[in-house]
Amino acid sequence: MSKKIEKTVSLESFEWNELDENIQDLVEQARLSALKAYAPYSKFHVGAALLLDNGKLLSANNQENASFPVGNCAERVVLGFAHANHPEAKPLKLAIAARKGDEKKPVSVTPCGFCRQTITEYEQRYGQPIEIFMLAADGSVLKAAGIDELLPFGFKDLNG
Ligand code: THU
Repeated sequence: MSKKIEKTVSLESFEWNELDENIQDLVEQARLSALKAYAPYSKFHVGAALLLDNGKLLSANNQENASFPVGNCAERVVLGFAHANHPEAKPLKLAIAARKGDEKKPVSVTPCGFCRQTITEYEQRYGQPIEIFMLAADGSVLKAAGIDELLPFGFKDLNG
C-alpha cells in the first residue's frame, strides 16, 4: 500500500513595529548590505544578514558576473562566509532584503531554490532550524520558522 507523505507549510507576516528590536536590526543590516550589492546585470540588489549563536552578525550581498550563471546570491555569499570563517558557530537567523536599481522602496524577496537547498544543508549540519526573515515591498516582514516552510522536500533524509 502506498502512503501519502504530507507536510504543511506556513509563513508568518509581521508589521515592522511588531518585530523585536534585534530582528529589526537584522533586517536593517540586510537592507543596508543590498545597497552595496554588485548587480550591474540584473540591477536587482539583494542583501542578507546572518546572526550566529556566538553573537556575530554577518552580512553580504549578491555578486554577479558577466557570465550570468557564475553570479552568486546574497544568501549563499553570507552563508558560505559564515561556514568558512565561523564553522563552530550555529547560524540562527537569516534576513534578506532587496531593491531594484536606484529605487528607495524595497521589493519583496524570498530565497531562490539554490539558496533554499543551501540553507537546508546548514540546518542539517548544525541540527537546528534557521529562522528566515524576508522584507516585503510594503515594509512588513515574512518569517519562516525554518527552511522546511520554504523547501519542505529539499535534498536530505526525508525522515530527518
Ligand atoms: N538573488 C539573490 O541574491 N538572492 C535570491 O534569493 C534571489 C536572487 C540575486 C541573484 C541575481 O544576482 C539577482 O538577484 C537577480 O536574480
